[in-house]
Amino acid sequence: MTRIFSGIKPTGHLTLGNYLGAVRQWVEAGQYEAESLFCVVDLHALTVEHDPARLRRLSRQVATLFLASGLDPERCTLFVQSHVSEHTRLAYLMECTATDGELRRMIQYKEKAAKAQASGDGVRLSLLTYPALMAADILAYDTDEVPVGEDQRQHVELTRDLAVRFNQRYGHTFTVPKVTLPTVAARVMDLQDPRSKMGKSHDSAAGIVYLLDEPGVITKKVMRAVTDSGDGGVAYDRDARPGVANLLDVLAACTGGDPAALADGYQGYGALKRDVAEAVVELLRPVRERHAALAADPAEVERVLRAGAARARALAAPVVDRAYEAIGLLAP
Ligand code: TYM
Repeated sequence: MTRIFSGIKPTGHLTLGNYLGAVRQWVEAGQYEAESLFCVVDLHALTVEHDPARLRRLSRQVATLFLASGLDPERCTLFVQSHVSEHTRLAYLMECTATDGELRRMIQYKEKAAKAQASGDGVRLSLLTYPALMAADILAYDTDEVPVGEDQRQHVELTRDLAVRFNQRYGHTFTVPKVTLPTVAARVMDLQDPRSKMGKSHDSAAGIVYLLDEPGVITKKVMRAVTDSGDGGVAYDRDARPGVANLLDVLAACTGGDPAALADGYQGYGALKRDVAEAVVELLRPVRERHAALAADPAEVERVLRAGAARARALAAPVVDRAYEAIGLLAP
């Protein structure tokens, strides 16, 4: 059976981008056609400045949203990264496999390091080594597929390179995983700045639809989305008209259509925005409602996470032991 692993870091409230790029793929394919593990990757949230109380709150919220989005703990393993120490055990071997140059070339490192530097905070060393931990997350489970949004493609490609290199040097140890992206909305853009990704840790919320936004708030954000001044009707052109293309992508992802074909059905931006707002509100309504019910019973979410961590540990431990042995460390 195909093994799937993916994760979300609790650095902010989850967005429509996280949902369309990742979580929805997990719910639709992941848990029925494969053996899947989905993880609140909390250690990754420590790579940039953070507030401990907020991290705890967001970690619980992300786990609750996994369930609210329809991930069924009877069919997949839901857990918190820091509860399974195999991730950090294996991360060190990944740091001994990756090179400094390779990690410095990562786009997210360059962007986030520049931001941390500009704000006067130092750049945490863990921001540089982050992809080694991410590779460990994936390789510890003999993962075949990693369903993520476009922005994580480079990290998964590095993971593949590290797996291949380790196998060549020390003998076959790891399954080499492949990335899977959604067919549309692999990169949902900010509604106010459609040349930037919709990101959960951005400062301004105006261009970001959060999974838990009320319907009225979602509608307002979509109706105020920046479009382009192009005339001649609605057309799907990601380079020349990124704002409209983003709305068409979101509509296509919500309704199952094709973004370029959907464009033909509109004369103006107003009608398009109204339909996008309605589609997003209806898509997220059940998630928000289930989240409210689940949040009222935190003990149940904790029980799911405890059981998930035990299952994850049992899967990861033999793989990590195998890697320790292959690299030349004595068994304890
Ligand atoms: P993170 O927490 O930034 O994002 C979680 C998932 O959401 C996707 N995503 C998007 N997809 C489409 N449009 C967007 N605007 C958008 N924003 C985010 C991301 O691609 C991702 O799939 N490093 C990872 C977390 C991680 C991980 C892993 C993922 C750690 N270990 C192992 C997979 C496997 C991250 O920061 O994702």
